Amino acid sequence: AIGPRETWGTRIGLILSMAGNAIGLGNFLRFPGRVALYGGGAYLIPYFVALTLLGLPIMWLEWSIGRYGGQYRAHWLAPMMYVVSKRRLGDKKAKIVAGIAGGLALSIAILLNAYYTNLLGWVSFWAGMCMTGKIVEVTEVKDSIGWLLQVIGNPVYNLLPWVFTLVMTGIIVAPGVSKGLERANLIMMPLLFLFSVVLLVTGLTWRTPVKPEWDSIKGFLWLWTPRFEKLGDPAAWLEGAGQIFFTLSLGIAGIIPTYASYIKREDDIALGALTTTALNEFAEVICGGTIAFTLGYAFGGVLPIGMVYVDKKSPFFLSMAVYPAFFGKLGAVGAVLGFMWYVLLWFAGVTSAIAIANVIVEMLQGFGWKRAQATAVSVLLFLVFGVFIALEGYMTKDYSWGPSTVYLDFTDFMVGSVMLVVTALFETIIAGMFLWPEGYEEVNRGGLIRVPKALWKYVLSIIAPIYLVAMLVWLPMSTRIETIIYQTGEPLTWLGPALAGLSAAFTVALFIVGFVLGVKSTKQFEK
Ligand code: PHE
Ligand code: NA
Repeated sequence: AIGPRETWGTRIGLILSMAGNAIGLGNFLRFPGRVALYGGGAYLIPYFVALTLLGLPIMWLEWSIGRYGGQYRAHWLAPMMYVVSKRRLGDKKAKIVAGIAGGLALSIAILLNAYYTNLLGWVSFWAGMCMTGKIVEVTEVKDSIGWLLQVIGNPVYNLLPWVFTLVMTGIIVAPGVSKGLERANLIMMPLLFLFSVVLLVTGLTWRTPVKPEWDSIKGFLWLWTPRFEKLGDPAAWLEGAGQIFFTLSLGIAGIIPTYASYIKREDDIALGALTTTALNEFAEVICGGTIAFTLGYAFGGVLPIGMVYVDKKSPFFLSMAVYPAFFGKLGAVGAVLGFMWYVLLWFAGVTSAIAIANVIVEMLQGFGWKRAQATAVSVLLFLVFGVFIALEGYMTKDYSWGPSTVYLDFTDFMVGSVMLVVTALFETIIAGMFLWPEGYEEVNRGGLIRVPKALWKYVLSIIAPIYLVAMLVWLPMSTRIETIIYQTGEPLTWLGPALAGLSAAFTVALFIVGFVLGVKSTKQFEK
């Protein structure tokens, strides 16, 4: 062991960077959408069961894999899984493990960030509208939908804020771990928490002067009133566990292990992983579970309109298509509140997107690339694989129901719901179950708290893999893939299947490339 190539500068920097990695659009938009669809307050049962049996144990596992790999200067998932499994499996099989890890990491990293940064572009578009004050001209929902359709269906409107987001991602990632990633998180994360708390309080206390019956508490109750009958639906359990993975960034291209690989051998990970999880849950359940729908209700009793979007899409669309009109109507106050909301979302997302870009940078650096060039290439890859989002919007902009987002939604389903569970299962089998019993020592070395042994022996080695296999069996059955491909039910002719097929073909192709690179990456760790 020679120690990581780069390390975090401070403990608070590590914690805020890990929190930044985990906290994303998933907390503020995806989570309230899942609560709305899967039982209101009752959804918290499958959600917290999954947090306890899957989320927290796998979070500890990923931190252990990462710090262990980092001591050998393995800084992305493929070489990490190689050094973790080599002793038991021998060189040949461990190389195959590295290949699978490489394939999963590369395909998820590129395809996920391609659409995620595109969505962040839409967010920055509205942040810009608030900042320049132009938002006050947007006072009707049809105005904001009109602008949104421009962003989706007009390549120029799509490209500008997206490229801005990609360039910012590159600027943050290029200078390195402590000078780039850590510094950016130290600035953005405190602001994110500040804006969240301001919007939380505003959301809960706002009484609109226009219509007193638009009481924000009604929005809160609408969302949270438990509907226990939903728990009989396997989808609620699947979506509870799926959300835990997405929100904690588990199984996502090894971004948590890569961040953990910059931790020194004797420094704590047990408490760090727990703290990160707790911060993410605060941002998710408390802030994310309050802000979107209280604001929505208070600013315009949006629920009747909003429900359409929750059913079809998510609070993401509520935020992009409905809220701008209400922020606009409130004049200067609305511009300030809107600015806080969109900047909060953008900070949340960018601090996750940089973690993904950093994985590709680490991969290329492992092959001898300079960091600056590697960063430029990673950002370009997101652009190349995401450009279909701009194109599909343009190609379908004349359809009666507006531009389609098949490529975006199908990719989200493939990588954001399926592949991350596959990755987590793979990590759990290789590193959690029996091949790497040293993992239990690893998680507790230098620990400020102690992770109980039973958690490793029973939860991680037995319950988690069974749970994950069950998820993989349920997932394709419970999700109606044709609703993604044929969007509003109207046939998209050949375009829908073609776009979904393109996304699937990219996943396979990138997996193969990642497999080869994963095997190659083990070269320097052979002895
Ligand atoms: N944890 C992130 C979220 O909640 C998921 C994510 C991570 C998305 C990295 C993109 C990049 O949004
Ligand atoms: Na999250």
